[in-house]
Amino acid sequence: MSHPSFPGLSQGVSELRASEIRELLKLIARPEIISFAGGIPDPALFPLDAIGKAYQAVLQDQAAARDAFQYSISEGYPPLREWITGYLARNGITATSEEVLITSGAQQALDFIGRAFIEPGDGVVMTSPSYLGAIQVFGTYRPTFISVPMDDEGAVLSELEAAFRKQPKFFYLTPDFCNPAGITTSLARRRAILELAHRYGVAILEDCPYEELRYENPRIPSFAALEGEYLQQPGNDGRRLVIYVGSLSKVLTPALRIGWICADPALINKLVLLKQASDLHCSTINQMIACEIAKSSHASQVEKLRKAYKERRDVMLEALERCLPKEVRYTHPDGGMFIWLEFPEGIDGTELLAEAVKDIQVAFVPGSAFYATEPKRNTARLAFSLGEPERIREGIERLAALLQNKLRANRAA
Ligand SMILES: Cc1ncc(COP(=O)(O)O)c(C=O)c1O
Repeated sequence: MSHPSFPGLSQGVSELRASEIRELLKLIARPEIISFAGGIPDPALFPLDAIGKAYQAVLQDQAAARDAFQYSISEGYPPLREWITGYLARNGITATSEEVLITSGAQQALDFIGRAFIEPGDGVVMTSPSYLGAIQVFGTYRPTFISVPMDDEGAVLSELEAAFRKQPKFFYLTPDFCNPAGITTSLARRRAILELAHRYGVAILEDCPYEELRYENPRIPSFAALEGEYLQQPGNDGRRLVIYVGSLSKVLTPALRIGWICADPALINKLVLLKQASDLHCSTINQMIACEIAKSSHASQVEKLRKAYKERRDVMLEALERCLPKEVRYTHPDGGMFIWLEFPEGIDGTELLAEAVKDIQVAFVPGSAFYATEPKRNTARLAFSLGEPERIREGIERLAALLQNKLRANRAA
C-alpha cells in the first residue's frame, strides 16, 4: 500500500519505501504455511531459565535493582563491556573496554557508522547480495552504493579493487555465513581484502552476528583479528581500518537488543557522542541481564544452537540435493541460518513466492530484496533456523516439485 508523502520530509526519508516483500511476507503468518522466510533465531532455543534467574537476582537485590532502572553511561554497562573484551580476546581480537561501544543491536551500530561516515553521494561498497537492513539504513544517508559480486570465497578481488579506486567511505560485509547468501569469506580472501583496504585506505566494516554459529570447518579469524596481526608487523601503515560489529541477538536473544562496535578509540569516542545524542544509552536492565546470561550461558547456548541448527541445515541440504532440478544452484553454508538459491534466468523469485504461497503453502524471501544496486531477480533466500526437520524436508520437496513444473513449462514454451 502506498502512502502520500508528508510535506518537508528530507530526501533520504521521502525516498524510503516499505519493501514489496515485507507486504508479501505479512500473508505468510498462517500456520499451514511452511516458511523459510524468517531469518530469525528459534525462540524455543532461548535460554529462558537463565534469563529468569538473572532478572530475579537483579530484582531481589535492592541496590542492583535501583541501578538497573537508572540512567547509565552512553559507552555501555562496564561489566558487559568487559565480558565483550574477553569474548573478543578468545577470538584473537585484542581490545580494551575503551575500544568497545555497546549499541542497541548490531542494527544501531550500522546506523551510527552510516551516520558518522556517509555524506550524500559518498561511495559505500557492499557485497552483492548484502544484508537488507544494512542496505536500508545506509540508504537513509543517501550514499552511492557500489556493489561487488561474490564467488564462493567472498567478494571478487578485481571488482573490489575497482570499487576501492573510487575512494569509497567503507566496505561492508558479513564475513561468516553471510545473510543472505550463506557464503563465508575464505582466509586467503580476507588477507587479500585487508591488504587492499590498507593499500587504498578504505575502512572495512565487518558485521559478525553469526560467527559463533559454525557447523563445520575451523573458525576463520575475523578481519579485526587479522588486522591486529598486521599491525604487529614491521613497516605496517599503523592505521586501524577495521570496524568490527558484534551482537548477542543470535546466540542469546534479540529482544535484549545488545550489539557492539569495536574499533579505533578515535572512532569510538565520536560514536559515543552519537549514542548520547541518539538515545543516551542502551537499557540499563537489559545490559545487566545480558551480562549475567552471557557469563552463565553463552558457551552452552553456542553448543546447543550449533547442534540444533546444524541438523536443520543438513536436512535442508539433503532435500535440496535430492529433489532440486539440476539447473537450480544453491550454496552450502558452513554455518549461520541461510541457503541461497539461484534459478535459471526467467524464473523470478517474487513471482515464484506468490505462486508458492498460493499453490504449495511454502514461503521464502525473493533474493531481489538483498541488492543495493541491480537486483538479480532469479534468486531466493531460504532460512533453516525455524521449524522441525520433517517440515523443512516437506517444504523443500514441495518447492522442488513446483520448480520442476515451472522449468518443464518453460522448456515446452
Ligand atoms: C547481517 C546482520 N547484521 C545485523 C543484524 C541485526 O542484528 P541485531 O539484532 O544485533 O540488531 C542482522 C539481523 O538479522 C543481520 O543478519
